[in-house]
Amino acid sequence: MHKIIINGGKKLEGEITISGAKNSAVALIPGAILCDEKITLANVPNISDVDALEDILTHLNAKIKRKKNGELHISSDTIKNRKIDKKLAKKLRASYYFMGALLGKYKKCEMCFPGGCSIGTRPIDLHLKGFEALGATIKENGDMYTIEAEELKGARIYLDFASVGATINLMFAAVKAEGTTVINNAAKEPEIVNVATYLNSMGAKITGAGTKRIKIEGVKYLHSCFHEVIPDRIEAGTYEIIGAACSNNLKINNIIPEHLESLNNKLREMRVNISVNDDSVYIGERIKDLKPVSVTTEVYPGFPTDLQQVLASLMTQANGESDIHETIWENRFQNLYELKKMGAKVKIDGERAYIKGKTELKGTEVYATDLRAGAGLVVAALLAEGTTIIDNADLILRGYEGIVEKLRAVGADITLK
Ligand code: EPZ
Repeated sequence: MHKIIINGGKKLEGEITISGAKNSAVALIPGAILCDEKITLANVPNISDVDALEDILTHLNAKIKRKKNGELHISSDTIKNRKIDKKLAKKLRASYYFMGALLGKYKKCEMCFPGGCSIGTRPIDLHLKGFEALGATIKENGDMYTIEAEELKGARIYLDFASVGATINLMFAAVKAEGTTVINNAAKEPEIVNVATYLNSMGAKITGAGTKRIKIEGVKYLHSCFHEVIPDRIEAGTYEIIGAACSNNLKINNIIPEHLESLNNKLREMRVNISVNDDSVYIGERIKDLKPVSVTTEVYPGFPTDLQQVLASLMTQANGESDIHETIWENRFQNLYELKKMGAKVKIDGERAYIKGKTELKGTEVYATDLRAGAGLVVAALLAEGTTIIDNADLILRGYEGIVEKLRAVGADITLK
């Protein structure tokens, strides 16, 4: 397992460019199975989650070529639909997108319950219920699922929770079904829109992506396409928070401002020196008297659950008590126990956490319990006094392309061991 070592206290200055969105790419790549011809994806982030998905596609006999310019060429006409290797599927939660894609294309999928970070039980009941509504039968054998359908017929599906994964997986399963499917209470995240645009560029007929009601008219054939992964709003938010914690002056390029409105609103409330341009954000000189804030995580466009662990580290520098109400995942405060080792004053009470500032953080050895917890520890280490060693840093590399190089380029004293 890799470690990230950071000597804190450096003022960061310069420009950082945001990569393609992990949570788009991990859906777009399995989605290539649905296409009857070759597809090209551009701006694919070079992260280990993408490597894991490529391995699964290769295992299914797809032909993949990753170009130096971040393009991924995938031909799925050579795919042999077969059981998905358990070890590969367990590497990440997003492997569940192979269920919708294989069901949608071949009307059959055999794979195990997906893997992923330890932020909750992470069920897939909404995905499975949606597959059944489309005419599939599901057989569970231990943690193996066999999902198959004589034929897939369009249906009206209501999601009890506006699940990102279920929304995308059901678009995959419905895109070639007989007739029309309507997904009500659909998730509205930008990644959903990115996936719907991708499928439509192959000839799918999807309307309403980005709203609570998505309509999918089944089509017979999906032709080749060229599609761009949108910038990663969670990576961008992470670097904005890093700028707020340690900036001299930091420019973050290649962002879509409306994807970050809830975070930028909170940073302004904290009195962070932030200015938003068309496709970049500028964080000025770090200010001393940050204001504490209250954050409640919600589905998009509310405050993203994926950034509360990162913002928690900045909250340790505010003058007063901040609080976080985590409404999406049931176990997403593990990072706070690690922050405590660095001197943070934190209290956890069920879905709520309280962070008292301003506290001097001291470098020490900490452990990345999950991807975004790890990102939060990077923020804490950058602003702490002394050296911090972040163990289990591979989890961070899963979702942040070139994080060590990007931070070193703006003056951080950071190494990967
Ligand atoms: C996606 O996960 C993201 N992952 C997560 O980001 C993100 O935290 C989450 O959406 C919420 O925004 C990817 O896109 C790969 P959900 P997903 O289905 O789709 C419950 C990161 O750090 N639920 O919207 O798995 C579930 O338990 C990751 O990049 C069910 O009950 O999230 C959770 O409480 C972490 N049954 C809530 O819904 C289901 O069938 C949100 O889940 C599905 C979900």
